[in-house]
Amino acid sequence: MDIRILGSAAGGGFPQWNCNATFSRAVRSGSPGFSSRTQSSLAASANGKDWVLFNASPDIREQIAATPELQPPAHGPLRDSPIRAVVLTNADVDHIAGLLSLRERQRFTLYATARVLKTLAENSIFQVLNPELVPRRELPLGDIIPLEGPDGPLGLDIETFAVPGKVALFLEDASKDGFGTSEGDTVGLRISQSDSRSAHLFYIPGCAAIDTPLLERLTGAEVLLFDGTVFTDTEMPDAGVGEKTGARMGHLAISGHSGSLAQLQDMPLSRKIFVHINNTNPILDPTSAASRTVREAGWEVGYDGMELTL
Ligand code: MLT
Ligand code: MN
Repeated sequence: MDIRILGSAAGGGFPQWNCNATFSRAVRSGSPGFSSRTQSSLAASANGKDWVLFNASPDIREQIAATPELQPPAHGPLRDSPIRAVVLTNADVDHIAGLLSLRERQRFTLYATARVLKTLAENSIFQVLNPELVPRRELPLGDIIPLEGPDGPLGLDIETFAVPGKVALFLEDASKDGFGTSEGDTVGLRISQSDSRSAHLFYIPGCAAIDTPLLERLTGAEVLLFDGTVFTDTEMPDAGVGEKTGARMGHLAISGHSGSLAQLQDMPLSRKIFVHINNTNPILDPTSAASRTVREAGWEVGYDGMELTL
């Protein structure tokens, strides 16, 4: 299985269009060690020819332009794409807005939970993806399903599981508990090759807490791509760029006693990689103490164009 990290940033990207804080300024001015990052997305293929996108970022056009494998094959039909399916892990803007760039009457299969499919159905702009060409398929929680494109199986299986999280920002209802969050609003995925279930990875770009079911599920996992939005919970207020904590946004901090570093420190994963990194996160600066801390704990900081082969 071939994996490409198409976008390693959280919503807003890096630099974010309106951000003038230290890290965004540093990457904009070309400071050594800083790399720009597009918004959260992953691509996977079992055969190197047919590809599945995991999340469709607002930067999808740039991501396809940077990834020859996702472009129409040189000697193929006049209109074609190796992207055979798109799988969504939540309905946040950074994960669904790219769908709008995938119009143009191209066939592919769109997978999401019932909650996320409902959001797409209720926002009529997504009808630009004609359901006759882009059938919607529900991701059943807790079941393993083979992914299919318009012409049949793609050689990848996925298991979808609910993780602690939050409903999409634009759907928050302040009058309800948890802003109206329900199971299936945020999910993690176990992605494996259909003919060899042992080669697998976990993709969890948004997660508010590591609970016992998640710890049990990750036991024995090989590769984990995990929510690296913020290093400290109060990082955005501390940087003076906003009031929200990581917890308020539905993202578990990397540091702290309940953070991802501490919670996963004894987990025998062969690779642990942070993705969905916010523009305030000090792991974006490779010389920072935070970067050293995550490296010493065995984590890698994902970057755009990062390739993994399982
Ligand atoms: C998030 O991950 O918290 C969202 O992408 C926020 C947003 O929609 O900007
Ligand atoms: Mn996001």
